[in-house]
Amino acid sequence: MSTQKQFTNPRAKHGFRGRTCSIISVGSYVPEKVITNADLEKMVETSDEWITTRTGIKERHIAGEKEFTSDMAAKAALRAMQRGNITPDQIDLIIVATITPDMPFPATACLVQHRIGARRAAAFDVEAACSGFIYALEIGQQFITSRTYETVLVIGAEKLSSIVDWKDRNTCVLFGDGAGAAILQHRPDAHGLLTACMGAEGDKAELLCMPGGGSRCPATPESVASGLHFLRMDGKETFKNAVIAMCTAGQEALRRCDLDISRIKCVIPHQANRRIIDAVGDRLGIKPDQVFVNLDKYGNTSAASVAIALDEAVQQRRIQRGDLVLMVVFGAGLTWAAAVIEW
Ligand code: ACO
Repeated sequence: MSTQKQFTNPRAKHGFRGRTCSIISVGSYVPEKVITNADLEKMVETSDEWITTRTGIKERHIAGEKEFTSDMAAKAALRAMQRGNITPDQIDLIIVATITPDMPFPATACLVQHRIGARRAAAFDVEAACSGFIYALEIGQQFITSRTYETVLVIGAEKLSSIVDWKDRNTCVLFGDGAGAAILQHRPDAHGLLTACMGAEGDKAELLCMPGGGSRCPATPESVASGLHFLRMDGKETFKNAVIAMCTAGQEALRRCDLDISRIKCVIPHQANRRIIDAVGDRLGIKPDQVFVNLDKYGNTSAASVAIALDEAVQQRRIQRGDLVLMVVFGAGLTWAAAVIEW
């Protein structure tokens, strides 16, 4: 029998009497079309060398003109459902995290509900930018642990190519499209989602935003001509804030579970920039073989980023049942979050 100290389930520590919530299966989807750094060299003044050394990104997948966020979300969801043996009528709730919904309303989750035939499911979207998937996981688990629902489908999905200015070399090299999905249920043999720390700093909203298209600046010919419907970012400030927030959130999540980083089998950070991941890894004492990185293939897919990475880590058997997983994310808002999961 193992003599290793067990972790603390913070929800139980605080007198929680409900059920646990586990991720029973995952799935992901990325579009077929790939844009490499060499392709970008033909579109803007940049180089493979600049993009690789500053970001670690080599290529990104880009959705077709007629392929939307809901299409990618539905494909990722169907893969997760197939792996978990979940039928559409079992799903009670669909939560889609996205900053690139098919349209301002209705929610992309409703469109996904229709696409996958989950007629019984309630459906809504969550907007927390790159932190959206962990925000949505934490919301979903509340419905499971409170016994409100049996099966929740959580999806992170983005068509960032639709809000990127392909003439702006500062941003167009960074982003990609895709979707990742997870099915949540109670599993009696696992603690599942042990904790999720979430935070926001709204006074830094301007660092990373899309100014046009909302009630503050509805679409007009002038707003379109001024590029207000493209994503804008202060890269340097975003970078600094990302490192601080991801470290703080990661440390807090581990502290809540009385866990040392050495106990974590796999760390899944937001896949925005290799240098951000390395800086967070150094500060948290994460060994290179603990961290999962796939941003070289996909770039930053915002809310889909850790969802796709989680699916790949599971398919590659980097994560197996019983392993402890730490996910840490950061995004526009500013928002951040970290989650510890007993897989
Ligand atoms: N190719 C070549 N040169 C470029 C490119 C490019 N693609 N992009 C910018 N440059 C130039 C700039 O014009 C600038 O030139 P100048 O000095 O002559 O004005 C110079 O490179 C900028 O250099 P730095 O500012 O030193 O670049 P830095 O090392 O900060 O890297 C980067 C920029 C990659 C954007 C970095 O700041 C970063 O990754 N920031 C975080 C971004 C991020 O993670 N955003 C997502 C958050 S999540 C979400 O919610 C979407």
